[in-house]
Amino acid sequence: MSTESKTPVVSLENAEVYFEDSSSIFNLFSEPDTVHAVDGVSLDIHENEVIALVGESGCGKTTLGKTAIGIQRPTGGSVRYRGQDIWDAKDGTGQVDIPYKTIRRSLQIIHQDPGSSLNPNRKVIKSLSEPLKKWQTDLTREDRRARLLGMLERVEMTPPEDYAERYPHQLSGGEKQRVALIRALVMNPDLVLADEAISALDVSLRIEMMNLMHELQDMVNTSFLFISHDLSNARYVTEKVGGRIGIMYLGELVEIGPAEQIITDPRHPYTKALRWATPDLRPGDPDRRPDVEELPIKTIDIPDPVNPPTGCRFHTRCPEAREACKQEQSPPELIQIDHASEHEAACFREYDNHQYWNSPDDESNENSRQRHTADD
Ligand SMILES: Nc1ncnc2c1ncn2[C@@H]1O[C@H](COP(=O)(O)OP(=O)(O)OP(=O)(O)O)[C@@H](O)[C@H]1O
Ligand code: SF4
Ligand SMILES: [Mg+2]
Repeated sequence: MSTESKTPVVSLENAEVYFEDSSSIFNLFSEPDTVHAVDGVSLDIHENEVIALVGESGCGKTTLGKTAIGIQRPTGGSVRYRGQDIWDAKDGTGQVDIPYKTIRRSLQIIHQDPGSSLNPNRKVIKSLSEPLKKWQTDLTREDRRARLLGMLERVEMTPPEDYAERYPHQLSGGEKQRVALIRALVMNPDLVLADEAISALDVSLRIEMMNLMHELQDMVNTSFLFISHDLSNARYVTEKVGGRIGIMYLGELVEIGPAEQIITDPRHPYTKALRWATPDLRPGDPDRRPDVEELPIKTIDIPDPVNPPTGCRFHTRCPEAREACKQEQSPPELIQIDHASEHEAACFREYDNHQYWNSPDDESNENSRQRHTADD
C-alpha cells in the first residue's frame, strides 16, 4: 500500500504524555514524580493501514494508543485527525474544520477485556444497537437489526438471531471479543485501537481473531493500531497486509518499519533482543533461531520512567552501548535506514560519522566483559 502524499488519518507530532505520580508514600511532602509515559513520539497512521506497537510492560503502548485516538490528552506536541487538531476540536479553540463528534465516532477502541465494554445486563443486540442509534440516526429499527445480524453472521456467530438474544455471560471469551470488534466496527471508524485485544485468548483463537480483523478491515476500510507484548502476533497481524511494526522502549518509538524488515533485518539492539526472545507462530520458519546463544541484552531490569537514563535510554541494557550513548544530550532520533523504505531506527550506530564510532566501550560493558573473562 502506498502511504505517500495523502493526509494521514491520525498524525502524532512530537507527542508527550507526562503523568504526575503522587502515589508513593515518599512523595507525601514533596513534589510529585513525573512519569514520562510517552516522550516525543511522531507517527503517521495512514488510511487502511495496520500498525502493531510492541514493547515491554509499562513502555507506554496504551498511553500512546489512547493519545492517537483522542482519549488521552497529550501534555506536549499534537495529535491530528485528518489534519484537524483533536484537542482544538474538543475545546473549541483554534481552527475547527472537523467537529469533535465526528472525530469521536471515527476513532474507536477494543479493550483487552471485552467484558468491560459489554453491559452484563444487556443482550448482545441491545449493546450493539446503542452506538448505531446514537451515530446513525437515519437508520430504522429494522435497518439496524438487519445490519447487526449481518455482522454477527460475518464473524461466524450463527445463527445470528440466537446470538443476538444472548447476554454476555452466555458467550465465550472469543465470542465476547467478536462482539466487541463488531461494536467498534459498526460505526464505520477510520481507526480502531486494539489494545491487547487478543492477549487473553487461546493461540488458535488469537489467529482466528487476527484473520477476522483482516477480513473486516477490508470490508469497512479501517486502519488498525494493534498493541501487543508479542512480536509474533504483531508480525502475523501486519505482515500479510503490508503493515508496519513499531517498537517502543521507555516512552519512545525506537524502531518502525514494514513488518518483514523488522523481523528479518531488525536494526535497533532492543528490537534484536525482542526478536531473539520471540518464538515464532510458524514452526519450521528459518527466521526462528537467530544465531545468538544468549539473550542479547545486559540486564532484564527496566529503568524507571520517572528518571529515564541520559542519552540513549536503552544504554543501561544495550550490548552495543558505548560512552557516547549515555553522554549525548538527547536520545537518538529515528532515522531512515535506507531511502527506499519506511524503515527507521533510533540508534547512534545508524548515523553516518557519529562520535559513537570513536567512543570507548561503555564502562558497564567493559565490566561485564571482564566479569565473564574472570568467570571463564
Ligand atoms: N494515569 C496514570 N497516572 C500515572 N502513571 C500512569 C498512568 N497511566 C500510565 N501510567 C504510567 O505510564 C507508563 C506507561 O504506561 P502504559 O499503560 O502506557 O504502558 P503499557 O506499555 O501499555 O504497559 P502494559 O503492557 O503493561 O499494558 C507506566 O509507567 C505507567 O505506570
Ligand atoms: S544508541 Fe547506543 S545504547 Fe542506544 S541502542 Fe544504539 S548502540 Fe545501544
Ligand atoms: Mg497497556
